[in-house]
Amino acid sequence: MDLGLNGKSVIVTGGGSNIGRAITLGFAAEGANVTMAELDVDQGGRVAEEASGLGGGQVRCLRTDVTELAEVEQLVAAAVEDHGQVDVLVNNVGWDQLMFFTQTTPEFWERVIRINYLGVLNCTRAVLDGMNAQGHGAIVSISSDASRQGEPREAVYGGVKAAINSFMKTIAKENGRSGVRCNVVCPGVTVPEEDEEVGENSMWVDKDNMFTPEQFEKIAKSLPLRKVGRPRDIANAVLFLASDAVAGHVTGQVLSVSGGYSMIG
Ligand SMILES: NC(=O)c1ccc[n+]([C@@H]2O[C@H](COP(=O)([O-])OP(=O)(O)OC[C@H]3O[C@@H](n4cnc5c(N)ncnc54)[C@H](O)[C@@H]3O)[C@@H](O)[C@H]2O)c1
Repeated sequence: MDLGLNGKSVIVTGGGSNIGRAITLGFAAEGANVTMAELDVDQGGRVAEEASGLGGGQVRCLRTDVTELAEVEQLVAAAVEDHGQVDVLVNNVGWDQLMFFTQTTPEFWERVIRINYLGVLNCTRAVLDGMNAQGHGAIVSISSDASRQGEPREAVYGGVKAAINSFMKTIAKENGRSGVRCNVVCPGVTVPEEDEEVGENSMWVDKDNMFTPEQFEKIAKSLPLRKVGRPRDIANAVLFLASDAVAGHVTGQVLSVSGGYSMIG
């Protein structure tokens, strides 16, 4: 199926590691031009090199902190200069540390809110005027099933991700008239397969710090599909939602890609 993404200008935040890496590679394989916003430019550069050979588009990584609006605006300007416009924004950056709420500090809350939410506000704001003016655009934000279920040790993160779901619906309503579509993908536990799939800044550098091997096994067994997610699972859903050719009438939706962990009617 042709997703019609060949030659599109796509921004992927956090495109160097795990889910973001798979999203970058997925768009690159479709022939899109990808501009990655990354703090870890070593890892981002390696992914850009890997992605560049896939579909003929240009893939590059620019050092950008998504929590800083001025840096995000520079990134968007660079994508527009090179590719004329931004067709797709994927808000993928996210961060958390698993702790019970009573173990967390106000400094931790602020960090979670800045990286997970302020980053999405900055990037969305920076692309919207251009998307409205050109009369089309797709924004896909990566949330989490923690936003839908409530998840022990992810209290602040789950709350912030729920804010992203709501924010995207409002942006979908405010901008749909000019052809801008906004959707959300909620991963469940999504684990890199190889060490090279993550850079030093990734939450998954030390997998055992997230979940013990026994917990991974338990999680897999508890899911209807009996397996944890892989980055490519999430990337496939993002490509679908980003494509006007196949998802052109889909907006304001929150899609769980989590092996059946969440089933929302
Ligand atoms: N992996 C999972 O199990 C899982 C589950 C639910 C939701 N999610 C969500 O999926 C998204 C991706 O998760 P992941 O596991 O691939 O994360 P990851 O930690 O492996 O990768 C995140 C990437 O973002 C970059 N980054 C971090 N802060 C940044 C900033 N301020 N500016 C620019 N780049 C920054 C990092 O350098 C890293 O390369 C996140 O939004 C996360 O909350 C992940």
